Amino acid sequence: MHLPVMKDEVIRFLDPKPGENFIDCTVGLGGHALAILERNKPNGKVLGVDYDPQILEELKRKVHGTEFEKRLVLVCDNFANLEAIAEKHGFTSVSGVLFDLGLSSWHLEASGRGFSFWRGEPLDMRYNPQLNALTAEAILNTWSLKDIERILRVYGEERFSRRIAKEIVESRPLRTTVDLVMAVERATPPWYHRRRIHFATKTFQALRVAVNNELENLEKALPQALNVLRSGGKLVVIAFHSLEDRVVKNFMRAKAKEGVVKILTKKPMRPSEKEVVENPKARSARLRVAVKV
Ligand SMILES: C[S@@+](CC[C@H](N)C(=O)[O-])C[C@H]1O[C@@H](n2cnc3c(N)ncnc32)[C@H](O)[C@@H]1O
Repeated sequence: MHLPVMKDEVIRFLDPKPGENFIDCTVGLGGHALAILERNKPNGKVLGVDYDPQILEELKRKVHGTEFEKRLVLVCDNFANLEAIAEKHGFTSVSGVLFDLGLSSWHLEASGRGFSFWRGEPLDMRYNPQLNALTAEAILNTWSLKDIERILRVYGEERFSRRIAKEIVESRPLRTTVDLVMAVERATPPWYHRRRIHFATKTFQALRVAVNNELENLEKALPQALNVLRSGGKLVVIAFHSLEDRVVKNFMRAKAKEGVVKILTKKPMRPSEKEVVENPKARSARLRVAVKV
């Protein structure tokens, strides 16, 4: 079953009313978007953007023939192009913009693109294999040791970045997630393999962030999100690691200083214990909200 992260909190902040329009910049399988559409009926709309063409096909199938179909406008694009997408589809002056960052559980479990260290798959990790040329395999097999070390350190905050990068370069060519997991295992000490967090977590995160340019896209999208909001409209962002959250925090604080927004979450909100028990993937979520003044 698909469980959208912090759905109740997102809906409480967005507070959708009949007739209001919203943009979900990371619509995925539509967990949040459909909850919004439940509340802005009968004529409120949601513009749902996702960079992954395949997950959008899944969502189209899911809403086909339902009452949501006509009020959910789906666009396959990078949210870094948010203003142009919104203008093209007439979603300017919306009541809320939502980002639920990163990857969906569908990517881990069903995409076959090597996002999960639990599955033996090719090292792809692209959200959009049609438009994005760079794969994880290309990074691992062609980038210099220094550049691999840098992305592991910066995007993964991996303490063994140097050792892992060296092992990767010495193990070339790496073709599957299994090759990568084994290289990380060889490069790290035994105690690192016994922790609660899997030893390859940070390496996989770093590669995914690099392949998909995740931080740059977010930095480009946030100012555009403010431009498409009406005054009183809310910007809601769920981040899943500290790098992403820092980008959001710094952006909101800078805009609050300029008097453009008011921050509604002094500290990031975290999921309830109950939600984490029901959906362990929610455990690292941090939600921040700002309202356009
Ligand atoms: C955490 S999932 C969203 C889940 C969704 N809220 C739901 O309830 O089903 C994040 C989604 O963002 C998409 N995504 C990642 N980077 C993107 C980008 N730059 N532009 C648009 N979509 C992006 C991914 O393909 C993924 O489907």
